[in-house]
Amino acid sequence: MSRSNPDAAGYFLYHSIGLYPGKEADLAAAMAEFARVWAAPDDQQWPFVLGKRQDFIDHWRAILNAPEGSATTCESVTDGLHKVMRALPDGQLRGKRVLVAADCFPSLHFLLQGLAPRIGFTLDTVPLSPGKPWVETDDFLARWGRDVGLALITWVTSTASARVDLAPLVAHGRDMNSLIGVDITQAAGLLPFDVQNPKVDFAISTSLKWMCGTPGAGILHIDTGLAQILDPDNRGWFSQDNPFSWDLDSFAYAPDMRSFDGGTPGAMPAIASLPALRWHAAQDHAAIAARNRKLTGRIIACADALGLPLNSPRDPDRRGGSVMLRLADIAQAKALTETLAGHGYAVDFRGPILRLSPGVVTGEEAIDTLFDVIETTLSR
Ligand SMILES: Cc1ncc(COP(=O)(O)O)c(C=O)c1O
Repeated sequence: MSRSNPDAAGYFLYHSIGLYPGKEADLAAAMAEFARVWAAPDDQQWPFVLGKRQDFIDHWRAILNAPEGSATTCESVTDGLHKVMRALPDGQLRGKRVLVAADCFPSLHFLLQGLAPRIGFTLDTVPLSPGKPWVETDDFLARWGRDVGLALITWVTSTASARVDLAPLVAHGRDMNSLIGVDITQAAGLLPFDVQNPKVDFAISTSLKWMCGTPGAGILHIDTGLAQILDPDNRGWFSQDNPFSWDLDSFAYAPDMRSFDGGTPGAMPAIASLPALRWHAAQDHAAIAARNRKLTGRIIACADALGLPLNSPRDPDRRGGSVMLRLADIAQAKALTETLAGHGYAVDFRGPILRLSPGVVTGEEAIDTLFDVIETTLSR
């Protein structure tokens, strides 16, 4: 007989949205503050809005160890990649390969597929390693030659939580003279990531997942070396050092990532995500990561006890913050997810893969009770 789990202890969705204690109240307060300022009969709106947006960017810079002026907002990871691709100098990628792994986030593959004929590159997708639900670092390296103009690396995958070995990849990419971008979405804020060590050309994330923010609040870091040669497509008054320079013949890009800002920045998602970023900044990050390691270890032990196959690397150093389990088929994964929801456990599935990501609100004991429900359900 399963024990029910009525509170947030049964939340396992840090690969998706993310939750921290007090999130609802913090978000409500931030939105109420915005409403007060925005509706006030004065002229204090823009200093407030743009100040909060900058605060958001600065919090992300601290997480990424990104220098001042090297980051800006984007709507999503896909949007961030689009901004970079469309800003590359004409001809930079023509006749070259853009390298991605088959387990990159599909949305980024869709974008690159569409851009390939327009920009003139060949999209080369490194297939899944035989017998593995993820692409091994060595297989990615083996395919990375001098004709690769740009490689997009997925730091941690969304269907296996497999983590690449970044240092050798970046070192090889430098030897090949390729641009190197990293999608850090699946572990940003949980595991340390330093854009300067090893130095990457760009990095993209959302504020969802372990950061517990809201949709629309993406972050794009571009190394100052690469930024120098970029020509952002979407240029507007906020792309300038002084947005109020309105002389039609003297447009000039700002000398930093503001050059990507285009028209009036849509600051709402940054404002809404700021409480989560502030909460995150006040935490002991090593302790959160260590607890995640402990909880994921417990999930693996429970899965082993039931004979459920892992869809994630067993080695914690090759994993992000999640454990994925392979069920018989989609129907079983869907039915199990629904049954678990009925017992107060928030999990999800992609195809036959059940995704479990324990974070700050997830209870340690909830893992045992979750597996009680799994055992009972699968044995029916
Ligand atoms: C690895 C990875 N990249 C990117 C995203 C999100 O991309 P976007 O913000 O474009 O929707 C996700 C979301 O699950 C992800 O897991």
